[in-house]
Amino acid sequence: MKQKSFYFYFLLLFLLINPHNIFPQTLNQHKYVGTKVCGKCHKSEKQGKQYVIWKESIHAQAYKTLETEKANKICKEKGFGDKAVEAKECLGCHASGWDVDKKFIGKKFKIEDGVQCETCHGSGGDYKSLKVMKNRKLAIKNGLVDVFDNTEQFCRNCHNPDSPTFTGFNFEEMWAKIEHPVPHRKKK
Ligand code: HEC
Ligand code: HEC
Ligand code: HEC
Ligand code: HEC
Repeated sequence: MKQKSFYFYFLLLFLLINPHNIFPQTLNQHKYVGTKVCGKCHKSEKQGKQYVIWKESIHAQAYKTLETEKANKICKEKGFGDKAVEAKECLGCHASGWDVDKKFIGKKFKIEDGVQCETCHGSGGDYKSLKVMKNRKLAIKNGLVDVFDNTEQFCRNCHNPDSPTFTGFNFEEMWAKIEHPVPHRKKK
């Protein structure tokens, strides 16, 4: 008995001192700031108009698509409920921010922006400052997702047969529709 209670208090002490060792995700989470915030610096011709390109892309409509009758019909048929915008089985690929604590949602963030900058690049609360943005390594350390290594695989996280309307995915064609390079950077 004595032995057991010793371990109990030891564990309790450990939990009290260092909760982050046990719940590391609370350390790694960054705040979603919203597309408007990214757009402040990523809108000009010189930087490559990423915001404008995204805004005109279908990704910006992905949440609104879930509000349509067609979406609700698919949702019902799949047995996920009457409203697609309320089904996590649909939101997973059509929106961001719906699955995190409210304290990680910035004032300018809008779920209605669907598949947005931070869906692909990671929530930007800690990498959005100019100083961090200019240093790629530092940005990655602060939450910027490094999707450059295998972009096609990254797209296929959503563009796959788990999508109820999937008909195939041709990476080259699809990338050409949404690419948004920084003009003064060299092509890799
Ligand atoms: C204060 C201005 C500013 C804000 C706000 C900002 N960025 Fe940036 N970002 C930059 C600059 C400057 C660069 C470097 C571009 C270059 O090479 O000239 C950059 C680079 C990037 C890169 C390329 C990283 C690399 O080195 O490969 C990505 C991706 C990016 N930003 C995404 C975002 C996203 C997403 C947001 C919003 C969460 C955002 N940025 C907000 C200024 C900003
Ligand atoms: C988080 C999930 C997600 C990721 C990651 C994602 N997409 Fe999408 N994509 C969607 C959704 C959802 C739609 C459909 C939006 C709609 O119809 O409202 C879509 C639609 C598209 C379309 C328009 C479809 C068409 O036939 O013209 C293109 C192009 C596209 N995506 C390209 C890409 C590329 C390239 C990548 C990788 C760089 C990518 N997507 C990554 C979710 C995603
Ligand atoms: C569907 C996913 C997706 C969305 C949405 C998206 N990006 Fe990207 N972005 C990518 C990928 C993938 C790359 C890497 C391209 C490569 O490999 O050259 C990239 C590259 C970039 C770069 C670096 C370009 C370069 O030439 O090095 C910047 C800056 C950037 N994105 C900013 C943004 C901003 C700002 C938004 C929102 C307005 C946004 N992106 C939305 C997937 C996305
Ligand atoms: C695995 C990711 C994923 C999931 C989960 C997902 N979608 Fe999508 N959805 C996509 C992608 C990617 C597209 C665009 C290309 C395609 O159809 O595959 C899309 C397109 C759509 C479209 C437009 C297609 C058209 O032809 O008009 C509707 C409507 C839609 N999804 C509804 C839903 C509903 C409702 C759910 C939940 C039951 C759902 N999606 C779940 C990824 C997903």
